[in-house]
Amino acid sequence: YGASMEKIVSLAKRRGFVYPSSEIYGGLSATWDYGPLGVELKKNIQEIWWREMTRLQDNIVGLDAAIMMHPKTWEASGHVENFSDPLVDCKQCKTRFREDKLSAEVIASKKCPECGGELTEPRQFNLMFSTHLGPVADSGSIVYLRPETAQGIFVNFKNVVDTSRVQIPFGIAQIGKAFRNEITTKNFIFRTCEFEQMEMQFFVKPGTDDKWFEYWKEQRMNYYVNQLGVLPENLHFHQHGPDELAHYAKDAYDVEYHYPFGWEEQEGIHNRTDFDLGRHGEYCGKEINYLDPQTNERYIPYVIETSAGLTRSVLVCLMDAYHEETIGEDKQGKPDVRTVLHLHPNVAPIKAAVLPLVKKDGLADLAKDIQKELNLEFNTFYDQSGAIGRRYRRQDEVGTPFCITVDYDSKDNHDVTIRFRDSMEQIRVPREGLAARLKDEMKK
Ligand code: GAP
Repeated sequence: YGASMEKIVSLAKRRGFVYPSSEIYGGLSATWDYGPLGVELKKNIQEIWWREMTRLQDNIVGLDAAIMMHPKTWEASGHVENFSDPLVDCKQCKTRFREDKLSAEVIASKKCPECGGELTEPRQFNLMFSTHLGPVADSGSIVYLRPETAQGIFVNFKNVVDTSRVQIPFGIAQIGKAFRNEITTKNFIFRTCEFEQMEMQFFVKPGTDDKWFEYWKEQRMNYYVNQLGVLPENLHFHQHGPDELAHYAKDAYDVEYHYPFGWEEQEGIHNRTDFDLGRHGEYCGKEINYLDPQTNERYIPYVIETSAGLTRSVLVCLMDAYHEETIGEDKQGKPDVRTVLHLHPNVAPIKAAVLPLVKKDGLADLAKDIQKELNLEFNTFYDQSGAIGRRYRRQDEVGTPFCITVDYDSKDNHDVTIRFRDSMEQIRVPREGLAARLKDEMKK
């Protein structure tokens, strides 16, 4: 059994990972809200990325730039000119298509693939959302919602160099919202108009860029397998051909994930050359370059970019972890199937559930006490209702790696049971040192 998109959407809604946005009003197309478990999962991914890309690197610093930036930013970056899709509409059924997704036959015939009606001429549709800064809606006050976080990093390159003692090669990392007025937004949270990116721009000396490109390609692939626990067989690289390359890129590889609807991009690793810093220098009228303190050489650095989708990572984690497993027979002799998310403990929204066998006789209080201790270390969940087997299943379905069962013996000998999600094995361990024991188990 594997995951289908329907099953993931249904589980995400049912268990509080992701809800349709403003659902009480019928929802808003392609916008989603992250519920209690979704926000934990997303935060975990965000924290792992931040740890791996800043704290564990001695030459990468963080940044949190504004979503709205000076409009010239987007002229310099090329987004005003180039960040658009060619659209055609059907005059009859009004369906809208991206011209680059239509077959050569359809383009030549100008006939709608849905209804056979006549298609309009293509027109360029810019993907940036615009709004007005200030009370007067004139063209002078137009600002865009950033379509990528990267530009916040480029415009702050000099600030960071001047204030934080970094030396090339070094990186600047940022996590934040980005917005694109996407035309095709199916497939749940895969492609949405509002999403989050985790980007890092690594500034290097020209000529060393190919070496660093290879380095980051390898690092980023390893991260998905070792940190997020994604199955290696569901990941591969796709190199951009000449007609796929973005306007700024010399070379680009995507880390792609094997979705039920095909291989699709999860992260882009791009060699952006000196395009962005060069263009910002031109547009702001001040040279943006780097003085090598050792050699006194001055140059515009090249940039290797790693650009991952945070919200898209949530989908990858859910899809990759989802399994339906037959584990024997139920009381009627039918196959007993459990739904389980084999999430890596790093990303699991709840690390441990604390379950008193019964509420009475002080077991609930003891369990709550234990939960309080564990909460100091990681996120837990307390559940006292229903048969213990059903409570285990509820935790399996949301990917909780450990259930801690508190029973009558726990009162006397201060032992508890750890029940493991993946193997369903149970072991008795002392209550003392439980948090440390669970942390050890998470590393296995
Ligand atoms: N700064 C480079 C850049 O933005 P990109 O390939 O356009 O490159 C990088 O985007 C990543 O951002 C993608 O691999 C994807 O994970 C995520 N992303 C892009 N557009 C998205 C959308 N509409 N919805 C969700 N995630 C998106």
